Amino acid sequence: MSAPALLIDRLTKVFADPAGAAVVAVDDVTLAVAAGEFVSLLGPSGCGKTTLLRIVAGFETPTAGEVVIAGERVTELPPNRRDTAMVFQSYALFPHLDVFENVAFGLRVRGVAAPSLGARVAEALALVGLTGLERRSPDQLSGGQQQRVALARAVVTRPRLLLLDEPLSNLDAKLREQMRVELRRIQRELGITAVYVTHDQVEAMTLADRIVVMNRGRVQQVAPPAELYARPATPFVAEFVGKVNLLEGRVTVADGDRWRVALAGLEAVVPARGPVPPDGRVGVVVRPETVHLRRDGPLRGVVRRTTYLGSQVEYEVEVGDLRLQAIGQSPLEEGIFAEGERVGVTIGFDVAHVVPLDGVG
Ligand SMILES: Nc1ncnc2c1ncn2[C@@H]1O[C@H](COP(=O)(O)OP(=O)(O)OP(=O)(O)O)[C@@H](O)[C@H]1O
Ligand SMILES: [Mg+2]
Repeated sequence: MSAPALLIDRLTKVFADPAGAAVVAVDDVTLAVAAGEFVSLLGPSGCGKTTLLRIVAGFETPTAGEVVIAGERVTELPPNRRDTAMVFQSYALFPHLDVFENVAFGLRVRGVAAPSLGARVAEALALVGLTGLERRSPDQLSGGQQQRVALARAVVTRPRLLLLDEPLSNLDAKLREQMRVELRRIQRELGITAVYVTHDQVEAMTLADRIVVMNRGRVQQVAPPAELYARPATPFVAEFVGKVNLLEGRVTVADGDRWRVALAGLEAVVPARGPVPPDGRVGVVVRPETVHLRRDGPLRGVVRRTTYLGSQVEYEVEVGDLRLQAIGQSPLEEGIFAEGERVGVTIGFDVAHVVPLDGVG
């Protein structure tokens, strides 16, 4: 088997804050990224995403651990000897250079000369849809165009690794969505390996082959988007990725591949998962789109909040001692339940997922 495109091997980074106290920004992180894979580092502000990316790029030295790119240990190499390219949130274009020269920069540094230089810059600009804007300076471009230049500049040298740190967060929602699609197209076209940092779970879900969820410097879970959503490993992942009803219960009967769980006066039958914890306490992850409101039904509830979103309706519904989030999928077909209305509720316990409650966070 060939070496992974990137191996992050037990990386730890400890900073000293101004008062001299230790800040563990990255805590024993190990991750292998396959060639051509698009991996997203996802987590809340301050969880260590940027620090981890900067260590991979070579802008930061780890306290412990190694960075291995395509089988080569690069932990002590400077950024320009790692054959990686980084795209920043701030774009960081050279303000005094025009678009052509911004993109050409990395090639000139590597001694690429005309006519190859011109051809490669043209190719990179075509890839990001900026052909014709070669002679503009960065301040004559929109934010989205500047971000495209930054992307063209990063990929023009065909780096082994493309590292992106929240590159779309300065764009408006519509443009961000459009750039997501383009970014993924470009990454696929070039077959380039990408590591993409974001705190936006939708961005990670739509872009990545695999998502690495981080919290407080540690990896919580590494999985493809659909698996992360369906089978979060911890309460933290469940709550960070998508909306969730996280219900605390106690396993009363463990019967093969189904568990009976007592929660808030209800008895739920949920898919089993691993050994039953010694105290029987578990978290049951119920996604809002699996909670359905109807006119009738044996399990009764009261609608406490209705939020109309056009294509769907978000509800908060009270069922006994439980307060559940629910999503009405098609208000045009199903109508809208009003606040205070009594409804029948079905809860998708059959597709729920159990998480351990210990070691939260
Ligand atoms: N140079 C530094 N000196 C001291 N502490 C630092 C330094 N750089 C980062 N930190 C701390 O390390 C932790 C991780 O920071 P980092 O920038 O990697 O987080 P992040 O996940 O990228 O957050 P964000 O989503 O806000 O960009 C934070 O607690 C931060 O305050
Ligand atoms: Mg950051």
